[in-house]
Formats: sequence, C-alpha cells, structure tokens
Amino acid sequence: MAHDPIGIIMNGVTGRMGYRQHLLRSVLAIRQAGGVLLADGSRVQVEPLLVGRSESKLAEIAKQHDIPDWTTDLDAALSDPRWQIYGDFQITSARVAAIKQAIAAGKAIYTEKPTAGTLDEALELAALARSAGVKNGVVHDKLYLPGLRKLARLVESGFFGRILSIRGEFGYWVFEGDWQPAQRPSWNYRAEDGGGIVADMFPHWNYVLENLFGPVEAVYARAVTHVPTRVDEAGQEYPATADDAAYAVFELAGGVLAQINSSWAVRVNRKELVEFQVDGTHGSAVAGLFGCRAQHRTATPKPVWNPDLAETHDYFTDWAEVPDNDTFDNGFRTQWEQFVRHVAEDAPYSYDLLAGARGVRLAEAGLESSRTGRRIELPALGKDA
Ligand SMILES: NC(=O)c1ccc[n+]([C@@H]2O[C@H](COP(=O)([O-])OP(=O)(O)OC[C@H]3O[C@@H](n4cnc5c(N)ncnc54)[C@H](O)[C@@H]3O)[C@@H](O)[C@H]2O)c1
Repeated sequence: MAHDPIGIIMNGVTGRMGYRQHLLRSVLAIRQAGGVLLADGSRVQVEPLLVGRSESKLAEIAKQHDIPDWTTDLDAALSDPRWQIYGDFQITSARVAAIKQAIAAGKAIYTEKPTAGTLDEALELAALARSAGVKNGVVHDKLYLPGLRKLARLVESGFFGRILSIRGEFGYWVFEGDWQPAQRPSWNYRAEDGGGIVADMFPHWNYVLENLFGPVEAVYARAVTHVPTRVDEAGQEYPATADDAAYAVFELAGGVLAQINSSWAVRVNRKELVEFQVDGTHGSAVAGLFGCRAQHRTATPKPVWNPDLAETHDYFTDWAEVPDNDTFDNGFRTQWEQFVRHVAEDAPYSYDLLAGARGVRLAEAGLESSRTGRRIELPALGKDA
C-alpha cells in the first residue's frame, strides 16, 4: 500500500540534539532507509522541514544533506498541511510557546525534554494536546540504550528477586570555559535560560525509574552550584545561576529506594558516564549506557570486614557481563520510528506529554526539596490528570 510521506517540522535543528540525534541519526537515517516500516509491511517515507532562526545555518545544513525544505518562518510552516508533525529541539525556554502554536495548528507534537520549565506549563501542554486531539510524544531516549535494555531484561526475568535499592552515578567534568572551552552550551548553567542539572536530568531519571522499577512517590534532593562562574561561547565570563550538581533520594512505589547523584563537577571513575547499580534479594546488576554486569546470589562472595588485612579479593571479577542477544539501533531513531507509526497507523504510544509533565514535576519537586530541606511527596499523575 502506498502512503503519502509524513512531513516533519524540525525546529532547533542547528543545535546539538536537533542536528546530530534528531536530524542525522533519526530522520535522515529513516529517509535513507526508505521510510518507516508499518504493520502491513509497507513503508511510509519522512520529509524534514528545517526550521530555525539563522537562514545561513539552515541553508548550509539543507545543502549538505540534500534537504529541499527549510525556513525561518515557523508560522508559515505550521499553516502548511504538508507538515503533519512538529518536532521541537530548541533550548528549553523557547519550547512551550512554540508547542502551543503547533497544537493550535493541529500538528502532532514530538519534543525533547523537559517539555516545559514549570509543572503548570507542562500540564497545560498535555491538556491542550488532549483537547485538540493531537498525537504527542516526548523523548525517552535513555530507555533505548543497550545497557538499560539489558537491565530491563533482567528486571522482567525476575532475576533480582525483590528489588531493594538503586544507586545511580551520572556526571563528568564540564570545563569552565576559560583555559579549555566548555563542552556544553552556556545556557545550561543559567537558570533564566532554562538551565540546571535538575531540570535537565530529573526528567530522564523520572522515566527511567517509572518504566523500569515503578513510579516515583517522593523525592528529597540537594541541588548546588559548585562552579559559580563560567565563560561562555563568546569568551565572556558569566555567573552560573543554575545548579550544576544534585544529590537525590527517590522513593518508588513498593518501597524501593533510588539514590542518584548527578553532577557536571565530578571526574569520572567508573566504566561509563552513567551507571546504575540495582540490588535485589536474588541478584544485583550494574548497568551503563552500553554494558550491564550482573551478580547472582549464588556468585556472591562473603566479605568479612577486617581493617588489619589488606584486600586481596578483586570484587570486579565477581560480575558477569550480560550478553547483547539483540541488535540495538540508535535509541532516538527507534523512538522516532515508533512515533511515526503512532501517527501513520495509530500504533500505541505511551511516552506522551503527560509522561513528560511527570518528568518536569520531578525536577520542580527536586528544586523545591533543595530550597526547603523537605521531602516532597508526589501523588499519582496518570492518564486522567
Ligand atoms: N535527550 C537528551 O539526552 C538530551 C541531551 C541534551 C539536551 N537535551 C534537550 O534538548 C534541547 C536542546 O539542547 P541542546 O543541547 O541541543 O542545545 P543547543 O544549545 O545545542 O541547541 C539549542 C537550539 O535551540 C535554538 N534556539 C531557539 N531559540 C533560542 C534562543 N532563544 N536562544 C538560544 N538558542 C535558541 C538554537 O538555535 C539551537 O538550534 C534542550 O531542551 C535540552 O534539554 C536532551
């Protein structure tokens, strides 16, 4: 069966995520493959429309990748029925206004996280999309990483027995920008531009925790700004008004405790930039972006605390690598393919703007906890909200 191509407005395509993950690795890779495979075996092709603020940058990307359509006029793009999906990869603070416009124009919405700067705005977007009847999706990329897919496999197999706790370490040193340029955009360190590690990472932790282990029911967090002054892309010194590290405890349904450190002011001493250790009554595992190592109760050593004797046992050898047993495509692309199927043939899709709002809520609650020193409870916020 032949299908009309699905036109995708790609706003913010000159940015890190917009260009590399959403354009190159996802939409252009799908276009190159002849489109998205549907349930009946046919394919639907995708066509990008590049949208941004800089005509010259858009023209350059369009030329380089043989993309016929680009514009700086978002209104015109939204009023053209050729484009069915609005994709948003802009800086966070520009997102809400653009998504509202796109919902009003009847477009399906696919967006980066966080969906908004506040819970009220995030819920408003979810409600607007629902009442307008437009399909909507929010990036949940970490769930598609090989390491977390293997971890999910262990959870589903019952390997852990009763899960007790999760410990996550995320972070690396982000250069201050003076003697070495920073490797992240400066807006990430300005609260007024939607920056901050809590706003950036807690939405990820929310969907990772709720999809692998259960919904987050309460949070205690301490967010700090370890590096108070940074140097921006133009070489100008600026005050870092946003948090660059957060130390948090998340309470999950069923009494599971997750403790996650997130920091752009830490040096890496682990196998990957993020690692989660899960401990259960029957086994434990440590998952990163790609790898996952497991230790069953039958392979668990019996250490005895003795400060008088130097350690001779290598605890790392007690862990066994979980095999791939699968091919893992780029997660952004896989999620795009699922969303295109949702639009094209109504395939089920659960990572919607309400799921995105739960992520924003966790970030907001984390910052409130840090400000007040209180533990913040999070009532269920499901489909009927
Ligand atoms: N899913 C993930 O793993 C992940 C990782 C990093 C960032 N993100 C999210 O993706 C979004 C983009 O982040 P990025 O790291 O690609 O940022 P970036 O600074 O590299 O790109 C930002 C894009 O927004 C555009 N933009 C629109 N209005 C702007 C304005 N007023 N000021 C500056 N830029 C403006 C820029 O032109 C650029 O195309 C953010 O919402 C961020 O939270 C997600």
